[in-house]
Amino acid sequence: MSAQLTAPAAIVLAAGQGTRMRSRIPKVLHPLAGRPMLIHVLDALAEAGVSRLVVVTGHGADAVEATVADRAATARQEPQRGTADAVRVGLQASPADAAELIVTMGDVPLQAPALYAALLEALRRRSAAVALVSANLEEPAGYGRLVRGADGGASAIVEEADADEATRAVREVNVGTYAFDAGWLREAIGRVEASASGEYYLTDLVALAVADGRAVEIVEAPDAADAMGINDRVALAVAEERMRRRINEQHMRNGVTIVEPATTRIDAGVEIGQDARIEPGTTLAGSTVIAQDAVIGPDAHVRDSRIGPRSHVWASVVEESTVAEDVEIGPFAHLRPGAEIGPRCRIGNFAEVKKTKIGAGTQQHHFSYLGDAEVGENVNVGAGSVTANFDGTEKHRTVIEDGASIGVDTMMVAPVTIGEGATTGAGAVVTRDVAPGKTVVGMPARPIEMHRRRSQPAEAGEPGAGQAPVPTGADRNP
Ligand code: UD1
Ligand code: CA
Repeated sequence: MSAQLTAPAAIVLAAGQGTRMRSRIPKVLHPLAGRPMLIHVLDALAEAGVSRLVVVTGHGADAVEATVADRAATARQEPQRGTADAVRVGLQASPADAAELIVTMGDVPLQAPALYAALLEALRRRSAAVALVSANLEEPAGYGRLVRGADGGASAIVEEADADEATRAVREVNVGTYAFDAGWLREAIGRVEASASGEYYLTDLVALAVADGRAVEIVEAPDAADAMGINDRVALAVAEERMRRRINEQHMRNGVTIVEPATTRIDAGVEIGQDARIEPGTTLAGSTVIAQDAVIGPDAHVRDSRIGPRSHVWASVVEESTVAEDVEIGPFAHLRPGAEIGPRCRIGNFAEVKKTKIGAGTQQHHFSYLGDAEVGENVNVGAGSVTANFDGTEKHRTVIEDGASIGVDTMMVAPVTIGEGATTGAGAVVTRDVAPGKTVVGMPARPIEMHRRRSQPAEAGEPGAGQAPVPTGADRNP
């Protein structure tokens, strides 16, 4: 079968402990730009057209297997007896029809899809048995050194421990990413012998291929820093910075303005529409989607949320919420999970919203809290208003219907409904449902007859907005 007829497969080695991370979390699960580094490796492979993946697990196997469950097959290597042994285990779970096999490691999240594509191309060029990635390092200590043959390909990889002085001086190192002729690999892997330490070195395959009269191609990494594995948290932070820069640049090339990339952190899965503008000090995390023409920041933190067209979120925290179009959020608003904000709303100045749906054109300003509520359209929520949704045991719902006006410092003791167009007076403690169009005042709030026409509400957003009409003397202090 010709190599091009079947899609290539890949084995990703991730059984090692990653001792230098000094972590209780398996190294390959440490996040980079919001997702585990191993997932970045699988993403890059998939983008290069390699989607049949096997991850070899060992240390922290349960957690690693759970993380990749919907993306890759897994194979457990117990005990860990070296990289060749890991590949032998991985081969048992790999598709038998794959004619080409990429082998890489779970700790190289910055390796670009183009590199995997280049490896496969190099493998095909001279029907090599192996193509591998090399990097030229100022300080090659710790890495396997490449020995080049007369044809420019590799003739051997010598591990640091086995290298003589001359070989140690070589600065071209083995990165640990390879493409193999799968048929040859399946046969040759059994010929790898244990090293003095009892480990089986994958790198021994290079000399075996040469002995078989097969070529070993070398692809030089365009950027050594992207090709190298992450071994400790210092390297993790460097990789994070590189990854963030790459993500920011991608969005800018797609038509998003990022005013100050150095202070803007955008996770790998975030989508941003054209002509959106990201202001300084902003974090967009998780599966956030920002629509076109939205302005986010300065100083916004948005996680797992959707922000609609032309909306503006600044100096605020938005989590697991949705915001429709033309909305203003902030400064100093906190949308907690389950907030659904309708078009043209204004939510700001110390406003907190949780598990609450708010209709179009509603205004909520000035240190107030809406939780477990359903709020209609064009409602005005006055300063200091609060839904008392928790009775100590259970959460209850508050319903505020269209056009209601909630006076400053209104306490809504749930479960309670405030009817369409109803008004609550300043300081009202609403314990019973308010009928549509009625006005209630006091503690506990009770209906009053109004002796003047209801005036136009104050300019929306002013502290006086939603203030109670003054009850007549007869109604006062009943
Ligand atoms: C390996 C290469 C070396 C290369 C270096 C690049 C070998 C023998 N040497 O050395 O030439 O320069 O990577 O980083 O391959 N793993 C398993 N099971 C095992 C052992 C390792 O899954 O039994 C995984 C580890 O999780 C890790 C990777 O393989 O992701 C590399 O293993 P490691 O022991 O770190 O190899 P190095 O000594 O760094
Ligand atoms: Ca290593």
